[in-house]
Amino acid sequence: MRVLITGARGQVGCELMRRVPQGFDVVGMGSTELDIAVADQVKAVVSDVRPQLIINAAAYTAVDKAESDAERAWAVNRDGVDNLAKAAEELAIPLLHISTDYVFSGKANEPYRESDATYPSGVYGASKLGGEEALVANCRQHLILRTSWVFGAHGNNFVKTMLRLGRERDTLSVVADQHGCPTSAASIADALWSLARQYQKSEALQWGVYHFSGDPACTWYQFAEEIFRQAPEMGMLVKVPKLKPIPTTEYPTPAKRPLWSVLGCNRLYDVFGIAQVDWRVELGLVLRELGSP
Ligand SMILES: NC(=O)c1ccc[n+]([C@@H]2O[C@H](COP(=O)([O-])OP(=O)(O)OC[C@H]3O[C@@H](n4cnc5c(N)ncnc54)[C@H](OP(=O)(O)O)[C@@H]3O)[C@@H](O)[C@H]2O)c1
Repeated sequence: MRVLITGARGQVGCELMRRVPQGFDVVGMGSTELDIAVADQVKAVVSDVRPQLIINAAAYTAVDKAESDAERAWAVNRDGVDNLAKAAEELAIPLLHISTDYVFSGKANEPYRESDATYPSGVYGASKLGGEEALVANCRQHLILRTSWVFGAHGNNFVKTMLRLGRERDTLSVVADQHGCPTSAASIADALWSLARQYQKSEALQWGVYHFSGDPACTWYQFAEEIFRQAPEMGMLVKVPKLKPIPTTEYPTPAKRPLWSVLGCNRLYDVFGIAQVDWRVELGLVLRELGSP
């Protein structure tokens, strides 16, 4: 089965490319080969590659920058998905797409279900929701996988930032009142390939919106604690910084962050048998990779 992967050099894109299962013939494209925001490019590439399935791992993910660069964020996150959705529909093939916990307001206190009302509070979340809507409106065979707090060995993420700051500073202040679920890029790639395999077998899937994130939920402060517990054990840090828990109010950012980002992932398990993965185990694998020569 021929699969087109967009955003192939991002955190998730890289892991998708590294983990191609047998029986798939993959064409992966980064933003320089395929800018999903350009409709004609999408049409040309899709008619040239003739995929039987598209996985979209491309997105404008700079959450703070999006506040002052809204036009580009909407162009990629909504219009780009709109372009892919229309191209997929024309070939009557499915589009697997990744979305985010930021489509929610962050004001809940129990895990978000797929059917819960969306209410994004910033440009990034709103533009990603726009992409979800464009996909639903234009491509019947769509699957939206919402995830959160992505980390991996490739690209920029919280783990790498903590390791860098931990080497530079004696004390680190980390937000302790935002709750979410760290999710390894590798586990997202595995979930997407599992979905692709199930589609390959039956030529059908139960389309719709699903949540997938790591387990258990924690705060950024607890995430940092675990990073600085594991990293020295792997010889990656000689000295551990002192961590100071702070409230969100003491760490102002251009984009408002949801205080509650926990995604309920039962539906993905009930329908496809895809279970959540312990992010602490995944963190160990990522640290090992980052620490290896
Ligand atoms: N990172 C998170 O914490 C997080 C949380 C929840 C959901 N998500 C979602 O997960 C998915 C994957 O995110 P990620 O963490 O892998 O992000 P990432 O590392 O920033 O990768 C996104 C990729 O998309 C590419 N891209 C940007 N604009 C593009 C365009 N117009 N056309 C084609 N490619 C374009 C980027 O390429 P360039 O670098 O060349 O621009 C980059 O390689 C996204 O849908 C994101 O919204 C991420």
